[in-house]
Amino acid sequence: MPSPIRRIAINTGGGDAPGLNAVIRAAAIAAANRGWECYGIREGFNGIFFPERYPEGGVIRLNRDRVRGIAHLGGTVLGTTNKGNPLHFPLKMPDGSVKEVDRSDEVLEFFAKKELDALISIGGDGSLTIANALSQKGLRVVGVPKTIDNDLDKTQTTFGFDTAVAFATECMDRLHSTAESHQRIMVVEVMGRYAGWIALHAGISGGAHAILIPEIPFNLEKVAAKIRERDTHGRLYSLVMVAEGAQPADGHRAVMAPAEVGHAERLGGIGEQVAQALQYLTGKDTRLVVLGHLLRGGSPTTFDRLAALRFGAAAVRALDEGQRGVMVALAFPNVKYVPLEEVAGRMKGVPMDSDTLLTGRDLGICFGD
Ligand code: F6P
Repeated sequence: MPSPIRRIAINTGGGDAPGLNAVIRAAAIAAANRGWECYGIREGFNGIFFPERYPEGGVIRLNRDRVRGIAHLGGTVLGTTNKGNPLHFPLKMPDGSVKEVDRSDEVLEFFAKKELDALISIGGDGSLTIANALSQKGLRVVGVPKTIDNDLDKTQTTFGFDTAVAFATECMDRLHSTAESHQRIMVVEVMGRYAGWIALHAGISGGAHAILIPEIPFNLEKVAAKIRERDTHGRLYSLVMVAEGAQPADGHRAVMAPAEVGHAERLGGIGEQVAQALQYLTGKDTRLVVLGHLLRGGSPTTFDRLAALRFGAAAVRALDEGQRGVMVALAFPNVKYVPLEEVAGRMKGVPMDSDTLLTGRDLGICFGD
């Protein structure tokens, strides 16, 4: 029998996503309803490593008052970081160089010292890989799948994705009229890392004429041919949706900043390349819109809010049932538990037999292949 739970901690890691606060609220209330104390660690694990940075301390009590009225708010009341991986922590050396150190034992020592019985870790691929490592070292951990990119395996969807897609679709709706009025090509670059989910879903929903995703290396001649064909039918404008991780069949992924110690590479810039090339190939006036971090902001949609509340409550239920080393996952109509080791380090891209992708092909959308 696992020891009973009295105190739990929650943290949010990696890029923020709409719905984080809803998870925090549901978990804190579900914990309080069991008589447990709930704490929030500030900015990933930084609250443990640098408590002096926070006026209220690096770990704050999440009582009912603290989580009141936050379910609809974007961002995270705890703060987050994608630079504080305890397994590969960047340590500045006296000579100015940066060395990578493993600080995961400090996390376990902190939990033991503060008599925290379990961690609910809300995050994407990076945070869940950390959660898995901490779990293997003996910490009682439950993960919650977050990311606008929807690139986590073993869950039907992550929270944050629906909000990002809804916003990108609305942007596409707005761009149709200006593109048509000026008979232009509009290129829209969206986030998504190495997966094309946001581009695919928003591109199809928003009426894109071409969609470029990392899973399908593209040839811009094919896209230009599609645009010329539309011109011959009097459709003198076109919308092209490009995922930041998309890459030409004969070229490279566009990287804005290379990986550093403790930080993954930053993608971005492919939209500019595509816009310039399409203007050259078609002779048509072309404009670029990069949606970037706008996709991460704002209130979660109802779908994301409910998924996040369900995940928060399910994470506490999982701990109550004695689960550890698992991630809560959507398996409609239910939430299930999957081992963290089946999720950590695995990316879910768009499969070539995806019904959504096939829908795009049936609609005559060009995927650049
Ligand atoms: O994983 C979420 C995400 O928004 C990706 O889509 C994007 O590549 C990355 O984070 C951007 O990170 P940052 O906020 O560090 O620019």
